[in-house]
Amino acid sequence: MSKNQTLQLNDGHSIPQLGFGVWQVESDVAEDVVAKALQVGFRHIDTAKIYGNEEGVGRAIAKSGIPREELFVTTKLWNDDQGHDSALQAIDASLERLGLDYVDLYLIHWSQPEKGKYLETWKAFQEIKESGKARSIGVSNFTEKALQDVVDTGVVPAVHQIELHPSFNQQRMREIDARNGILTEAWSPLGQGKEELQDETIGRIAEAHGATPAQVIIAWHLAIGNVVFPKSVTPERIQQNWDAQELTLTAEEIEQINGLTREDGRLGPDPADFND
Ligand SMILES: NC(=O)c1ccc[n+]([C@@H]2O[C@H](COP(=O)([O-])OP(=O)(O)OC[C@H]3O[C@@H](n4cnc5c(N)ncnc54)[C@H](OP(=O)(O)O)[C@@H]3O)[C@@H](O)[C@H]2O)c1
Repeated sequence: MSKNQTLQLNDGHSIPQLGFGVWQVESDVAEDVVAKALQVGFRHIDTAKIYGNEEGVGRAIAKSGIPREELFVTTKLWNDDQGHDSALQAIDASLERLGLDYVDLYLIHWSQPEKGKYLETWKAFQEIKESGKARSIGVSNFTEKALQDVVDTGVVPAVHQIELHPSFNQQRMREIDARNGILTEAWSPLGQGKEELQDETIGRIAEAHGATPAQVIIAWHLAIGNVVFPKSVTPERIQQNWDAQELTLTAEEIEQINGLTREDGRLGPDPADFND
């Protein structure tokens, strides 16, 4: 696969399929690791208000000298900012922290179904898109019902960002997203660097290609059409994850990795139950 391949979003914009995630990275560290990621070639950064590192991400972008139009920056609206007016204020605050005039993608971080504010928030998101403060708008961690409600407004999210890795491959939600013309973004794509990197099947495939387990998992995400943004604060791994684009798996290997999914493979909260 060629490096920095982009996928088409349903609103006409495009998104680099491989990006760089910065959850659990402190703002100062984020400045350094985003600088490294940009240096190796990443052009897509996934952050969020709740990560507390938008400033560091923004400083790395500013110092990089890379033209803004070559970058793709995502941030997310945190749960306590759901609602119409608070969403309009939240995007301004995120842009201020990032030092940017616009983000490429703005996401509602969790659907929070019991709060029942996601449709009101989605209305504000449409205004944010019209104002040019976000080029594209989407959702993250939406239940099937919440996603359908949003689709029914007639303004279909560009992406749906969900937990997705080999042991929790979200086949059903991926199909729902695809049916609605929504790109699926995979969060915790490496299973947070835990058991998945030790998996025997993945290890065997890695050995056959002279690659690492993380590279095999990234290549799998790319092959099945996910947008993916592994996080690392380790320079060699950042380079390694970028180089995973050069790895092509066979159809049989992809099937073997598809077979690793488990009912209990989820690492984070179930969006239906996360209402705090
Ligand atoms: N929307 C949401 O609710 C949501 C939730 C979670 C995450 N996300 C997004 O998804 C991004 C990625 O998910 P994540 O940060 O949870 O986890 P991840 O990318 O699945 O895994 C990160 C872990 O894997 C390790 N790692 C990375 N590359 C490696 C390699 N080549 N070899 C061995 N270990 C490697 C990292 O270690 P080191 O850093 O020590 O190198 C880190 O411990 C986040 O940063 C965030 O942008 C979104």
